[in-house]
Parts: sequence; C-alpha cells; structure tokens
Amino acid sequence: MLRERIEVKSPGQIRLMRRAGLVTAAGLEAMGAAAEPGVTTAELDRIGREVLAEHGATSNFLDYGADWGYPPYPGVACISVNEVVVHGIPGERVLAAGDIVSIDFGAVVEGWHGDAARTFEVGEVDEASRALSEATRRAMWDGIARIRAGARVGDVSHGVESSVGSHGLSYGILRGYTGHGIGTAMHQPPDVPNAGRPHRGPRIVAGMCLCVEPMVTLGGEDVVELDDGWTVVTRDSSRAAHWENTVAVMPDGLWVLTEPDGGRGRLAELGVPFAGLD
Ligand code: MF3
Ligand code: CO
Repeated sequence: MLRERIEVKSPGQIRLMRRAGLVTAAGLEAMGAAAEPGVTTAELDRIGREVLAEHGATSNFLDYGADWGYPPYPGVACISVNEVVVHGIPGERVLAAGDIVSIDFGAVVEGWHGDAARTFEVGEVDEASRALSEATRRAMWDGIARIRAGARVGDVSHGVESSVGSHGLSYGILRGYTGHGIGTAMHQPPDVPNAGRPHRGPRIVAGMCLCVEPMVTLGGEDVVELDDGWTVVTRDSSRAAHWENTVAVMPDGLWVLTEPDGGRGRLAELGVPFAGLD
C-alpha cells in the first residue's frame, strides 16, 4: 500500500499555523455569540466572512470539493442544526430557542490552515442535548490528551472512543467521518478516526499537526447525505454534536492552535504538558 507522507512542520511554520488557528477561533466565537433565536444560518456564515476579511485571511471551506467533482461548497462555515451532524450548508434555516448548532469553520493565513468546530446552545436547551455536546467536547479533549511524539494515531482514536463510551449512555459515534492531518492543506494524511485500537496506526512525531473531531449522536450511528451533496443528517433524526481543534505536536507537549489560550487551561486539567510558543 502506498502511504502518503505526513507533513512535518518547523516551529516557524507552526507559528504561522497559530495565526490561522487564532482567526479560526475568533470566527467561531463571533458566530457563536450571534447564534440566537431568529438568526439564520446564512447570517452566521456572513459573520464568518467578515472575521476572515478583518484578518486578511481566506477560507478553506469556500468552493471546497470543486477540484474533485463535488458540488463546490458554498459557505465559509458548515452550520449544522440539531439532526444535521456535519456539513450543513448556510441558508435560510432560522435558529430557534432549544436548538443546538454545530459550527465548523476554518481560515488560511499565508498558506497555512486552521480548522475547528464547536457546538453552541441556542437559548435554553434540554438536558440531553446539553449533555451530548459536553460529552462530545470531552471526547475531543480526551483524544487530544493522547497525542504526543512517540504515540500512535490509534491511541488518539481509542481515547475518543473510550471517552464517548464512558458515559454509560448509548451515544452513537460517526465512523465514516474522521479527523485528519492539516498544514499546507486542510485535509492531509493521516486520517484520525474517532474509534480504534491503541498502539496501532501511524507513529506521531513532533511537527505534525492533527485535527481531532468527534461527531456524536443521541441515537444511532447511521447517517444520510442529502441531495445537495453535503448535508449529513442522522438516519433516526436524533440530535448530534461536533467539536474539533487543530493541535500541533511539539517536542515537549502540545499547542492547541485553535484555542485562544493555546489549550493551556484544559491541558493542565488533563495533566498534559502545554508547549505553546506564545
Ligand atoms: N472542516 C471540515 C472538517 O472538519 C470539513 C469541511 S468540508 C467543507 O474536516 F467543504 F465544508 F469545507
Ligand atoms: Co476537520
């Protein structure tokens, strides 16, 4: 089997990726703050465009897919409400109190990519939806906590999977969609699956950058892609959450490029060394 090389970045290149990561984080924060009842998903996408423009960044989502024959992606963010798991196309859907909305967004700065997702609560949401989002966020961090030079991608996948499984509830994990390497392109090798076996898969080395992005449902794992070629919904119409960060593997720890604090706070709680450069 031919294996594509995994791109290894220098510290200077990772600093540029941090800039893309901070723009990504700023866009998510602005869109999340605007995710109130009565707002359309198209309006949130417009806010994402404004944040990119303010920072002189470009979108890695807009027109994505055109190069390999998919319908070109029409937004700068994927905005996925309730039963939409991922790749929701921004449009006239109006957010209502009680919805959960997953926003996936990315930025390119000087050719370097950032990519992250958060699930936001619109007004007051029911306890099950809140717990789902929290479990998905937790699974992302539990996966991130397994990343270090010398570990393997399967360790990360296992970290995500066992975290989701630890709640004793029957959450579904999407298996057909994975995290990924990132750098001079948004999607690079290796795939970072959300389930897997420890000690398997590609070896992680310093200078790699990985996106960890669990997609978790309140019901089953089966999904359906709509006729627009993008929107992915749960087959059983259960709600879903999606959290993602771009993480740089440093020689002595991690730098979570798409968190405003570089991951410092959360990594400390998890007992993982923070090794950011700012
Ligand atoms: N950023 C998404 C991911 O987390 C993929 C977006 S697909 C696009 O990997 F078409 F919207 F760009
Ligand atoms: Co991603």
